[in-house]
Amino acid sequence: MCSVAVTPDSYESNGSDPVVSIRHLVKEFQLGSGLFSGSQKQLVSAVADVSFDVERGRTLGIVGESGCGKSTTARCILRLVEPTSGEIIYRKLSPTNGAIDEIDIREISDSELRHLRSDLQIVFQDPVASFNPRMTVGASISEILVVNTDMPRPEREDRTQELLTLVGLDSGHSQRYPHEFSGGQRQRIGVARALALHPSFIICDEPVSALDVSIQAQVLNLLLELQQELGLTYLFISHDLAVVRQVCDDVAVMYLGKIVEQAPVEKLFAEPNHPYTHALLSAAPVANPKKQRGRTRLLLEGDAPSPIDPPLGCRFQSRCEIGRSKDLCHEAEPPLADNGDGHLVACHFPEVKSVI
Ligand SMILES: Nc1ncnc2c1ncn2[C@@H]1O[C@H](COP(=O)(O)OP(=O)(O)OP(=O)(O)O)[C@@H](O)[C@H]1O
Ligand code: SF4
Ligand SMILES: [Mg+2]
Repeated sequence: MCSVAVTPDSYESNGSDPVVSIRHLVKEFQLGSGLFSGSQKQLVSAVADVSFDVERGRTLGIVGESGCGKSTTARCILRLVEPTSGEIIYRKLSPTNGAIDEIDIREISDSELRHLRSDLQIVFQDPVASFNPRMTVGASISEILVVNTDMPRPEREDRTQELLTLVGLDSGHSQRYPHEFSGGQRQRIGVARALALHPSFIICDEPVSALDVSIQAQVLNLLLELQQELGLTYLFISHDLAVVRQVCDDVAVMYLGKIVEQAPVEKLFAEPNHPYTHALLSAAPVANPKKQRGRTRLLLEGDAPSPIDPPLGCRFQSRCEIGRSKDLCHEAEPPLADNGDGHLVACHFPEVKSVI
């Protein structure tokens, strides 16, 4: 296999149009010295040298088990947590002349960052939980317009009603309080709030994980429709591969702070290369009962290592059947390499396996 290590240059020379590019992103949390940690401070390696592009008008999914660093990566992009190192570039498209303004998010001032937050938004698992329970949702959405724009009151009221209608709610819902909504409706309100300031890039962090499957489908369809209508770009975080397959164009698989595989979504499902991706896909149910009965689940043995003390070499080595007996896997970290067709894999011994 012809492999090329992914460098910032190789991303930029392929004629793509990324809205957000991150390069060599690192986030280490420092744990305080407590009763059990002695005097030495410990570092949690939550995100360890992650690079990717999110292409304009497309959706990049990030999947991986709990604690692998999905949310921390997302929060670093918006600087809701400060990255330890790395570069985060946002390319703002001028609606009037199509010019692109390249903004280095780590370098801008706090006031510039506040201003930029209208372009870059995030939707959480239960966004309405952060609303003031004593304010109507209309007042909560309108407050965002008060803080960030100089819109007069009648226009704010119109915009609030317009947003509620856009996400499939009745404009009369603006007079209700957060507790008066169902899970699916709450998520729609969260999307309405995220759209209030006309963003171009939205991070969806597990937006449907708490919802019933039928309601999940409605919210996912809403996100897809809004993407078409408003030309949005999404970074979509989920642990559910079926959901990722439904809404994402490209998908990155994370393990212990690193991207181990990335590809267009159907390519990843059809030709997974990394042993961790094989295990994830084999654990995800398929809709066809006959096919499901004939499948063998690849069990991951052992526990994921602690992000406080990640191993040398490949971070997946302790759970990898191939890697356990290979010195190279214990000695050298596999780079995320392109096998020539935009399918990136970080493994010394990649192997295409059909698991779904
Ligand atoms: N504020 C913090 N202080 C210390 N460690 C943190 C902090 N936030 C996250 N971590 C650690 O960083 C790692 C990555 O966490 P993160 O929340 O990004 O994972 P995740 O992939 O989003 O998981 P989940 O699917 O459960 O949401 C975990 O080991 C977590 O314990
Ligand atoms: S580099 Fe080695 S340990 Fe890591 S996934 Fe590949 S084969 Fe397994
Ligand atoms: Mg998370």
